[in-house]
Amino acid sequence: MENMVVVGTQWGDEGKGKVVDLLTAGADMVVRYQGGNNAGHTLVVGGKKFIFHLIPSGILYEDKTCLIGNGLVVDPEVLLGEIARLKDAGVNVGPQRLVLSEKAHLIMPYHKAIDAAREAAKGKVKIGTTGRGIGPCYEDKAARIGIRAIDLTEPGVLEEKIRANLKEKNFYLEKFLGAEPLDANAIVNKYMEFANQLSPYLGDVSLILYEAASSGKSILFEGAQGTHLDVDHGTYPFVTSSNPVAGTICSGAGIGPNILRHIIGVVKAYTTRVGAGPFVTELEDETGDYIQERGAEFGSTTGRRRRCGWLDLVVVKDSARINGLTALAITKLDVLTGLDKLKICVEYELDGERIQARPASLSAMARCKPIYKELDGWKEDISGARKLSELPSEAKTYLKEIEEITGVPISLVSVGPAREETIVIDELLLP
Ligand code: IMP
Repeated sequence: MENMVVVGTQWGDEGKGKVVDLLTAGADMVVRYQGGNNAGHTLVVGGKKFIFHLIPSGILYEDKTCLIGNGLVVDPEVLLGEIARLKDAGVNVGPQRLVLSEKAHLIMPYHKAIDAAREAAKGKVKIGTTGRGIGPCYEDKAARIGIRAIDLTEPGVLEEKIRANLKEKNFYLEKFLGAEPLDANAIVNKYMEFANQLSPYLGDVSLILYEAASSGKSILFEGAQGTHLDVDHGTYPFVTSSNPVAGTICSGAGIGPNILRHIIGVVKAYTTRVGAGPFVTELEDETGDYIQERGAEFGSTTGRRRRCGWLDLVVVKDSARINGLTALAITKLDVLTGLDKLKICVEYELDGERIQARPASLSAMARCKPIYKELDGWKEDISGARKLSELPSEAKTYLKEIEEITGVPISLVSVGPAREETIVIDELLLP
C-alpha cells in the first residue's frame, strides 16, 4: 500500500475509526499527528470492545507499529490507562510497537482544571469543549512553557517546570476563574510516577518515519477531529485547538510532504456536530431525530447527543480544497435508509447572493441559508451490499451527486458498522 492519509471533512465523528481500521491492514505503521484524547472511537474485535482515544487502533494487529507524533497533546494518565487495558486484553503493546514522540506535549492537571472552569464561567457562549485540557495545553505549547514528554526523562527539569507553571496557573484558577488551586507536590509525585512508566515508550517519531519511508514501508496517517474543527480553517472560535488538516502531518509527525500519497477525506452521508457553533443544514425536526437515532449519534468521548442535519457539500468542498483530497470515503450511508426524500446542500445563500465557499465570519455563516438539491430516498436494507451495483438506484444517484459536486472520486462506502459492511471501489485501498 502506498502512504495514505485519513482526514475528517466535516466536524469530526465522520467514522474515521472504521476507515482507518480497514486501511491499517495494508500499512506497516499507523501515525497520529494532532489532537489528543478529545478524539475517540470504539472497535469490536473478536467479541471484545476496545475504546481508543490516543493509541492508533492498529495496535490490535500484531505486526503494526503505532506512533504518537509530536503534534499531539498527551494525557499520560489516559495513555497509560489505554496501555493497561490493552495488556489486560492480551494485546502486545510493548515499546517496540508503540512509540510516543519525545516532543509531544503533556496535558497537566491544571490544563483540565482551566478547561473545565472556563467552560463553566462562559455560561451560554460555551465552546462545548470535551473538557480534556486540550486547548490550555496547546496554549502553553505556543507560550513556550509547555511540558514535553522528553521532560519525563529529566526529573529536575520536570519538577522545576511544574512548580513554575503552577504558580501562574493557581493564580489564574483562584483569582480569575474562582476555582480551587492545585497542589504542586501531588502533581510532581504523580508525574514522576508516570515518568517511570512512560519513559520506555519515548522515541524519535520523525526519524522512525524517515527510516520506514526510505525502506519502502507503508505509512497510514490518522487524523483526529475534522477540517471544520481546525483552529485555522474551521468555524473559529467553535473549533479545537489543533490543525486536523492533512498539511499538518508534516509538522505534527516530522516528515516532508513528498511522502504523502493518497489523501482520503471521510464524509459522513449526512452532517453532525457536537458542541456549539453555526450549522447551516441542521435539522431540528423529526428527520433530525430519525438520523440521530438511526445513526446512534452520541459523542464517543463525552456521550453528548450530536446535532444532525443534511449533507452539506459546501463544507465538504472546502475540505477537498484545503486537504488536497484524492479520494472520498462515505460512511453511514445505511442510516439514511427509509427517508422518502434526501437533501444535499450544494451552495449557500448569503444576503440574497449565492456563495460556494463557507464564509469566515460566523455571523455571516449564521445568516447563510442552504440551497438544496432534492433526491429520492430508498427503502431497501443496504447493509448487505458489497458492490456498488448491489445498491438501489437512488443510493447510487446520491453517491454520484457527491462525486460530481465535490469533484473527488469515492473510493469506499460504508453501509454498516462492521468491518465487512463496506463497499471497496478502489483496489488501491486493499493490502
Ligand atoms: P476541545 O477539542 O476539547 O477543545 O473541544 C473544542 C470543540 O471541538 C468542541 O466543540 C468539541 O466538541 C469539538 N471536538 C473535539 N474533539 C472532537 C472529536 O473528536 N469529534 C467531534 N468533535 C470534537
